[in-house]
Amino acid sequence: MPSPILLASGTAGTLDEICNLINPRLLGAIVTKSITKEPRPGNPFPRITWTRAGMLNAIGLANPGLDAWKADIAPQIEHINTNILGSIAGDSIDDYVQIATAMDAVDAMKIIELNVSCPNVHSGLEFGADPKALKELTEQVRSTTPNTKIFVKLSPITVGTPHTIVDLAKVAVDAGADGLTLCNTVPAMGIDVHTRKPILSNTTGGMSGPAIHPITLRLVHLVASEFANQANIPIMAVGGVTRWQDAAEFILAGATCVQIGAGSFANLNIPRKVIQGLDKWCLKQGASSIQDLVGQVRV
Ligand SMILES: Cc1cc2nc3c(=O)[nH]c(=O)nc-3n(C[C@H](O)[C@H](O)[C@H](O)COP(=O)(O)O)c2cc1C
Repeated sequence: MPSPILLASGTAGTLDEICNLINPRLLGAIVTKSITKEPRPGNPFPRITWTRAGMLNAIGLANPGLDAWKADIAPQIEHINTNILGSIAGDSIDDYVQIATAMDAVDAMKIIELNVSCPNVHSGLEFGADPKALKELTEQVRSTTPNTKIFVKLSPITVGTPHTIVDLAKVAVDAGADGLTLCNTVPAMGIDVHTRKPILSNTTGGMSGPAIHPITLRLVHLVASEFANQANIPIMAVGGVTRWQDAAEFILAGATCVQIGAGSFANLNIPRKVIQGLDKWCLKQGASSIQDLVGQVRV
């Protein structure tokens, strides 16, 4: 990738909508909104709210669905001035496989990200929290996508399951994932004290932005230091990046590149500033490239 900074899924549209506002050539890639098999209108409003330390959302995976993606979006991908990474969500393995097969058929699509923070209709459990389902899902997608790399995007929360994020990351890699995206949002909620109602129509949502950065940083460090860096498994870190220092911390913890989500909602100059700051930091550290600093935290 030309740059280690990407825009995170769900925060940069379904293709290049954001390119009117940000120079796509600055970016390593844009990750698309997660695509599902059927179109989804998403949750009723309000589905986004700001908190003191970031953003709470329960968009509900609003997206045009696979048929519209194939007809209207896929043919445009090769004309965009940056890499487009496909993101997939689903409620059955078959959904993921069908969408992955369609994305794999697009020449310009080099990486697919599996958003596994979705409940499996068959068990009710999130794919990413259930090792058996995660293994089967990753294996089946892997076997039908010969042309693309597969990254599995895990949830930061494994509370309520007997598994750690390291266990789940290993399951995904052993099942054929080429890389990991760490992590999705942290479950959270807000209440309007005047009406005494939850702020989001969905009651709860996902927390993103500065509040979650230290949480995700620890998880990136855990997974990277336990096995991923040694096994050469790339990690895309995502969570709360609003300053170049946040991205630099992710790199030192073991991420090979960094996605920005809510940060670019707050200020679209943030990705450019992060890239410039990282370049200067890299020089000051005496490194010839950012990749030389991956996992170089002195613990
Ligand atoms: C409005 C919004 C929509 C999102 N939609 C998706 C999505 O469709 N698929 C996905 O994998 N993650 C989605 N995410 C999660 C982000 O990709 C990212 O993992 C999370 O926001 C943490 O990064 P941040 O703190 O930089 O925003 C969404 C986040 C936000 C704020």
